[in-house]
Parts: sequence; C-alpha cells; structure tokens
Amino acid sequence: MKKTLVAAMCALILGAIPSAAQWGPRPIPEPTDGLKDAYKDYFKIGVAVNNKNVQDPDQVKVILREYNSITAENAMKPQPTEPKKGEFNWKDADEIADFCRANGIKLRGHTLMWHSQIGSWMYQDEKGNLLSKEELYANMKHHIQAIVNRYKDVVYCWDVVNEAVADSPVWPGRSELRDSPMYKIAGEEFIYKAFEFAHEADPEALLFYNDYNDAEPAKSQRIYNLVKRMKEAGVPVDGIGMQGHYNVYGPSMADVDAAISLYSTIVDHIHVTELDIRVNEDMGGGLRFNMGQAKVADWEKTLQQDQYTKLFKVLRKHKDVIDCVTFWNVSDKDSWLGTNNYPLLFDENVKPKQAYFAVKGFDPKMDNAEIIEDFKPSELNQPGQQYPMVNSQGYARFKVDAPKATSVIVTLGLGGEGGTVLRKAEDGSWMGTTSGPMDEGFHYYHLIIDGGVFNDPGTENFYGSTRQESGIEIPAHDRAFYEERDIPHGNVQQILFWSNSTNMLKKAYVYTPAGYEKGKKKYPVLYLQHGWGENEYAWWNQGHANLIMDNMIAEGKIEPFIIVMTYGMTNDVRPGGAGLRGFNYKDFETVLCDELIPYVDSHFRTVAKRESRAMAGLSMGGMETHNITLARPELFAYFGLHSGGIYTPKELEAAGLDAKKVKGIFVGCGSKEGPDRIMKAAEDLQAAGYNAKGYVSEGTAHEFLTWRRCLLEMAPMLFK
Ligand code: XIL
Repeated sequence: MKKTLVAAMCALILGAIPSAAQWGPRPIPEPTDGLKDAYKDYFKIGVAVNNKNVQDPDQVKVILREYNSITAENAMKPQPTEPKKGEFNWKDADEIADFCRANGIKLRGHTLMWHSQIGSWMYQDEKGNLLSKEELYANMKHHIQAIVNRYKDVVYCWDVVNEAVADSPVWPGRSELRDSPMYKIAGEEFIYKAFEFAHEADPEALLFYNDYNDAEPAKSQRIYNLVKRMKEAGVPVDGIGMQGHYNVYGPSMADVDAAISLYSTIVDHIHVTELDIRVNEDMGGGLRFNMGQAKVADWEKTLQQDQYTKLFKVLRKHKDVIDCVTFWNVSDKDSWLGTNNYPLLFDENVKPKQAYFAVKGFDPKMDNAEIIEDFKPSELNQPGQQYPMVNSQGYARFKVDAPKATSVIVTLGLGGEGGTVLRKAEDGSWMGTTSGPMDEGFHYYHLIIDGGVFNDPGTENFYGSTRQESGIEIPAHDRAFYEERDIPHGNVQQILFWSNSTNMLKKAYVYTPAGYEKGKKKYPVLYLQHGWGENEYAWWNQGHANLIMDNMIAEGKIEPFIIVMTYGMTNDVRPGGAGLRGFNYKDFETVLCDELIPYVDSHFRTVAKRESRAMAGLSMGGMETHNITLARPELFAYFGLHSGGIYTPKELEAAGLDAKKVKGIFVGCGSKEGPDRIMKAAEDLQAAGYNAKGYVSEGTAHEFLTWRRCLLEMAPMLFK
C-alpha cells in the first residue's frame, strides 16, 4: 500500500489521529535543534544570507538554530562593496557582519575576485579598453585589502577567486581557464596575485579557490591542476570550495567522492560552499538557469531527498578534509534559483522538508554498514527472473531495464525515505539497493519511472492499494509457521454467490481443512477480512492463511475450521472523500450477514450457530469486524482485530454483549504501529472478565507479516 496513505490509515484505525480531516501526510514537527548539532562531530553547517534574512525574527530563529557559519549571499562581492573605484558601500556587508559579531558566528567571506558582479572599473577604462596588468593589480590590491581588513575580526576564510576555471568541454589547444577580462590582461597570474593580496591583509584567514561543476570529472581535474600549479608556485592557497549547485539527477555520488578524494591530495581544507539541489536537470553556478516548473511532484521530492542523503553520506566519509558545508540560502522562499526549483531543505514557508530530517537523522552506524553479497532472487519473482534480490540481512536490490528513462524509483525503502532511488549502472540498466535492511515479511511496491507508475516485471503481482502491485518477500526468521510442508493440505476454492442487495454475482474464497471432502464432520467458520485497497485474494495469497492453518492442524495446535474470505467493499473510499470515519459498512454487513453466511451454511458442512462463528479482519477489515460484530451480536461469538482497532467493555455492553456471550476477543498489531493502546485494551477487557488476548508482532509495521502472525496467535483461541 502507498506509504503515507497507509501510515495515515493505520494511525486512524489504531486511534492515534483524531479526525478524518487529518488524513494525509503526517504533519512535520518543528525542530528543537539544528543541523549544526547533528553534524558537530563532522563539519560546520553554513548558510548564505541576504539582508532581509538577518532582520526577520522568524528567519533569525532558524539561522541561529541550524547554522554555525554564515556567508553573505551578495553583500561582500566586488561590485556591491565597491561599485565605483574608491567609492565603497559597506552598509549591507556591515549589517551581516554585525549580525555575526552579535551572535558569535564566523563568516565565510565571499568573494574577492570574480568575473561576475564586479565593477568594470576593476579591469577596463571608461572607453572600455582593458587596463594594463599593473593598473589591474593596483585596483585588485586596494579592493581586496580594504575589505579583508575591514572584516578580519569576523571572517575566518575567504573565497579569494571564484569561477576562474573554464567549463567543459575545453577544446584542445584552449586554456583551462575562463577567458575573463582579468585573465585576458594577466593570464593565470591574476589568480596568484589575488591570493597574495588577501594573505598580506589577513595571514590568519584560510584562503579558498571556489568553483562550480566541481564534481564533473574533467572540470574537477582542471580545478585540481590550477590549485596544484598555485601550490607549486608558493601561492598561499589553503582550500578548495566546491560550490555544490547540484540537481536531483546528478552528479553521481561516485563523481563527488572521486572529486573530493582528488582535491584532498592537494589541499587540507575542502568546503562545500553553495549547496542546493534543484528538481530539474540544470546544473552548476552559471547565472542563467531555468526558473523551474510550477509544481514539484512527490517522486521528485523523493529524488531530492535521496540526492541530499547520499551526498551527506559521502561528505561524512570525508570529514577529515571537509570542514564546512554551506547551503546557498535559508529557504526556497528566497533561493537565487527561485521557489519553483525547490532546491533547499527548508521550503518556501521556511518549514523543514522531509529531506531535512533525512539529512539530519542519519545513523552513524549505517555509514560503515557492510552489505553481505549473498543476494538471491526474491521468492516472489516471476519464473527465471533474477531481480529483485534479497540478501541474508534483509537488504533488497533492484534492477530495471529502462534505457531512455531519466529516473527510476522503487517505492520501497526505510521509513521516511519515500523509496529507493535507482541509478544508472554501467550496463545501462537502473540499479539500487535499499539503504538498510527491510522489515521481514511481505511488502507491496511499484516503480516510478519518470513520474509514471509501473509494476516491476521481475515480480509477481498482488492486489493492494486498489491495484495489482509488485511484491517482494524478505524471509522472516519465524517463517516456518507458513512454510510449505509435506503434510495433509486443505483447499482454497472460489465460490460465486448471488447478492440481491447489490444485484450482482459476488465472489469469495473458502478454505476447507484437509479431509473436509471425505468426511461428514461439520466445522466452525471464521469470516476473515482484508484491508483497504485489497480484496478476497489477500488473506490466502499474501497472507498464506491456508498454509498457516494446515501447519497448525498438522501440529495438533488447533481443531480444524473453515475460513471464508470475501471482498469487504472497502475500495471506493479515497483520501479527501468521505474519509475512513464516514465509511458506511452497512452495505457490506448486508452482503456478509444476510447473503454470504446463509450461502456458506447451506453449501458447506458448517456448524451454523454463533458459538461456531468468528469474524476477524486486518486494518480496515478490522474496522468492519468491529462494527459488524457489534451490530449483529446474534451472529458471531469470536472477534479478532489485526491492526484494526480495539473493543471496549462499554461498547460491547451497549451492543447487548457480555463476557459470557463473547467467547473470545483477539486484538493485535505490529510493534512499529504504536501497540500500547492495543495492549491496554486487552488488559481492560480481561479486567472486565472477557477472554481477551493482546498480541504485538515484533519488528513489523502495518504489513502482512503482522497479520500472518496475528492469525497464528488468534486461531488457538477460537471455537474452544
Ligand atoms: C548568486 C546570488 O545568489 C544571486 O542573488 C545573485 O543575483 C547572483 O549570484 N555562484 C556563486 C554565487 O559563487 O556568488 C552566486 O550567487 C551563485 C553562483
């Protein structure tokens, strides 16, 4: 089932959410500490600010909570500080510097020499003729030293030269450096001079060369080459700034990893200086870019979260050489890329995105987790299909052939991830492994390829979330209770019965225990309901209810009984519609109680009385069970709710039931579903004299292993 929907549905059924109006993604909480705290053992987390950011109390709160390094987005650049030769404008830069002084945060100075946002007086005369080298250096020196001196007390490092390396491709015979006016006048030497002037003014400050497309192999080689030549010439360069204007499709983390490794052979300090990750294919720090599309889809958010989390994992790996990671702007609200590019961890309302929590909530243990390479095809694969695969730790690995696709997501992953993003492998296929071990048991999933929904051709299909979904099974350590054995087996047969109330032919599956056909014995019956989005196949196909029964009967753990599984008419309910609370179970009550039960009692050898009849259901089927057993107390004596809510003594009494009439009540759920309320309900029922059992399935959530185990735990209670 779709993760957010199921989470909301499960919370609703289990009673954690008060109203159907809140059916939707879970609200995102206000953080209590910041990224800087989560990364205190790794590197500083910085942010680029404009003057409005440091004046708005709400944003100041976020800045002070999250960051421990600040960059002036524009205020310290050449043109804003010295628009005309010798005419300085310190107002904006002073305001940001004073904010940092007042709050005890140090500044990354940005930037002293750049071909953009620079007054043309720096390199040309009034007629537009390039200045001589001597004039250029004189201009540079007085500019650089004025600003470096002014902010010495609060600036700990400078991006001395910005974007001086040429973009790819560089044709043979052309310079590796950008053909800027400064380059035209002085060649590479202007870069060296800028560093010398800055170092003279503040020998304490760390001096950086800063550029974009910093992980692209060819450009990172040119950046490395430049810094290497500078080092060899004795230029005081301390570090390399990787701007980090990335997008959700690239760069690959292998390229980022390789670039950092390369840079770390030549400098001791690497800063990521201008991080943002756009949801389109634009890359780099060029000032012409796409302002983005209007609406960002959920799958694009998943791609972005994945790119952010994988990037931070690589950055953590290089914490020895990386000492600061700066986001370029506080929030999407005033990102230089525009809100529609959705580039930051805070949205246009300055609220943290899910990706923020993913970046912050990393598990240091998982950074070095070793994946055991013993992957085997999932047991639910189509014949002959290798993928998906599962390993002995519970990791799942996927491979999808989609040669022209730009993104492939598997909607399966660890909590909060939104899925596993596959990346293009060498053979052109898309591959990926879950970021950690999955919960044991059965999981529904599908693929999202370029925003479209598809099933994985590697696996069989299972009806869930109102459609056939792909399925994968992570072998559970206790799977023996539904394994296939050489014992007498019962049958699951389809029956068709006419429903007058809905004027149609309806279907159910009936499990009859081994020996049913040959004997004369009459059997009790359990009516067993599936959850939202599923149908009459779910309990035997995904749930293995028949195998669970066969095994228990063979072991002598239970007396045989029949199970009837029909469609609970659950699937017209949609988020935003009448909602779950408003769901009218009455139509199904009529079909079940007045049409199906009489049909089963007249076509099968059943004990047709309430003491021999049980009803149970999972999730929304539990809700139906709850309502129908209370509405029709004359029909059922055993009730079971699997991740499907609770009974209270009061409501049982109100329905005319008591501890004598109800022969058994089972309530169970997964340990990851907030089981306290379920266990408390079981205790209350026991205290009121009911034969009640509460059960928590360890290590599982709102999924089928929970319900397989619930059936196993409930069956021995029935028909005693
Ligand atoms: C950008 C600012 O964010 C914009 O407000 C401004 O209009 C242009 O410059 N690489 C850099 C930054 O080094 O200084 C740029 O900042 C973004 C690209």
